[in-house]
Amino acid sequence: MHAQEATTELGLANRRIILGVTGGIAAYKSAELIRRLKDLGADVRAVMTPAAQEFITPLTLQALSGNPVHTTLLDTEAEAAMGHIELARWGDLILVAPASADFLARLAHGHGNDLLSTLCLAARCPLAVAPAMNQAMWAAASNQANMDLLQARGVHVFGPAAGEQACGDIGPGRMLEATELAQCTANLFPHRILTGTRVTITAGPTREAIDPVRYISNHSSGKMGFAIAEAARDAGAQVTLISGPVHLPTPDRVKRIDVISALDMHQASMDALTQTDIFIATAAVADFRVENSHNQKIKKQDNSGPGMTLTLVENPDIVAAVAQHEPKPFTVGFAAETRDVENYARQKIERKNLDMIVANDVSRQDIGFNSDQNAVTVIWKSGQQLMALASKTQIARDLVTLISEHYKNTR
Ligand code: C5P
Repeated sequence: MHAQEATTELGLANRRIILGVTGGIAAYKSAELIRRLKDLGADVRAVMTPAAQEFITPLTLQALSGNPVHTTLLDTEAEAAMGHIELARWGDLILVAPASADFLARLAHGHGNDLLSTLCLAARCPLAVAPAMNQAMWAAASNQANMDLLQARGVHVFGPAAGEQACGDIGPGRMLEATELAQCTANLFPHRILTGTRVTITAGPTREAIDPVRYISNHSSGKMGFAIAEAARDAGAQVTLISGPVHLPTPDRVKRIDVISALDMHQASMDALTQTDIFIATAAVADFRVENSHNQKIKKQDNSGPGMTLTLVENPDIVAAVAQHEPKPFTVGFAAETRDVENYARQKIERKNLDMIVANDVSRQDIGFNSDQNAVTVIWKSGQQLMALASKTQIARDLVTLISEHYKNTR
């Protein structure tokens, strides 16, 4: 998928929308709205008022959203699964569609007598409403005063449209169509540089088994790869993080695939390629594995002599294999060197057919494997850029910006 096409296609990638459905005939359009929001990449949770359930069933909205539907404030089971305050914090936006005249009145006056109105009070995220009612109700002075109040408080109002109504009247009060509402919703969020782009990242060390209890590995903490995963997600990308054994929590809204050995990581990376526009290899992959790792724990007395010999065989070079793949994702490697950093990094770009390489000098004590800081030189065929000592979070953000600029130039 090309980033340009995807920008409009996936304007809600990684966004969480709480869709409030209130009682009105337009509630049937909420089912379609969930589909359109999901088409744009959103994760949707529906919240229904009791009146809404007279028009459409929670089951329909659950099936379409793929998430449980929330209906009552005082349901201990639902609260145990996700409490209303937690749900309020979950959303990046609450969209009430359709919003009935009664609900808008309750919203304007700060009521909290059902789950949806309570969520609107408790949430710190933006709020949008799509009014739907009879044209005379829409025009009523009390309703108009409520709308003025809501707008003055920063509530986004989508529509209503004018036209023929379910009751036979003609005039303003119809809810906007699902496609229009989904687009209005996407327009509320700022465009992010990697919206619609799929980024796969390898991170951490690999472990090469000697026997069931022993292995060969290295000191990689995975911190750089995890920080890049977060930065790419914040830039709007859909992120897959293929991680060796590390002690780090999974970043929110990132798909994590855990692997142990280099062969596992190779397989997971190849499998991810159909869903990858940019591949970033931060993993410290073991160059060799034990040729015949033992199924049983090796005993000291298993060896005839005083020493022990392990035969090692080379592991596949994952990033080089990715760069051979057609179509080739924009491929970024890392180079940890202790001397002549730039020179070795340039050779690696050529040898592995990379688009970019991030070189760091691991002979320095203040940066590298287990540190929270890093300083790198980013190198590409026709240039380079130094990123001075900074937190891995900051370096990750700067890297994601630079990678996305170069990636877009290649499309
Ligand atoms: O050749 P070297 O190990 O120094 O290259 C480092 C870069 O290559 C890193 O991006 C690392 O993730 C990647 N790599 C790999 N598979 C290997 C070895 C290294 O993807 N087997």
